[in-house]
Amino acid sequence: MKSDRKKWDRRYSREISDSLSPDPLLLEFRGLFSSGRALDLACGLGSTSVFLARCGYWVDAFDTSLVALQNLMKRSTRENLSIGVAVVDLDYYPLPTNTYDVVTVFYFFSQNLLTSIRAALKPGGVLVYSTFNYHHVNEHPNFCSDYLVPLGGMGRFFPDLQVIADRESSGENPAISQFIGTNSA
Ligand SMILES: C[S@@+](CC[C@H](N)C(=O)[O-])C[C@H]1O[C@@H](n2cnc3c(N)ncnc32)[C@H](O)[C@@H]1O
Repeated sequence: MKSDRKKWDRRYSREISDSLSPDPLLLEFRGLFSSGRALDLACGLGSTSVFLARCGYWVDAFDTSLVALQNLMKRSTRENLSIGVAVVDLDYYPLPTNTYDVVTVFYFFSQNLLTSIRAALKPGGVLVYSTFNYHHVNEHPNFCSDYLVPLGGMGRFFPDLQVIADRESSGENPAISQFIGTNSA
């Protein structure tokens, strides 16, 4: 894990940017978002956290990279956004349960985390999940398949959520799976 953190810190030290746009999926489903508490997992530089905070959420932004989160904190302070950051290793960090109106995960997949991601949602809460699937190895043969979503739709990982979108492509890209579901319990 330490080496993973260093890898991401190194990458973000080279790639720091303030002009990151939110993922098109968030813009497409903009009507789902209002206010409350949001959790952005593996947030990186925080384009999703910033989007959610601008919508009106108090955002918990978690990532393993201190470099990325320091950058996000600076941006959040500058723009007076309600974002709290935490440097965590999601493989070990217990997520709060029944807490969030929105949980977002972009480009991070760990099968072991799916149950706790689901449990973090409040009744009525929305999960937005978009990440690389197995087609990704066609272009990136060395990519570790543990970090790729198996094909077949992400909905099966969240069987009790009401499906809003469950796709195995994003635009023209067949290597991205996307899921949006609500906790109607
Ligand atoms: C591909 S980036 C995606 C970042 C962001 N969600 C986005 O879409 O721009 C993957 C992120 O996962 C973070 N990450 C990797 N392993 C992690 C772990 N075990 N715990 C927390 N964050 C982790 C990395 O630091 C990195 O920011």
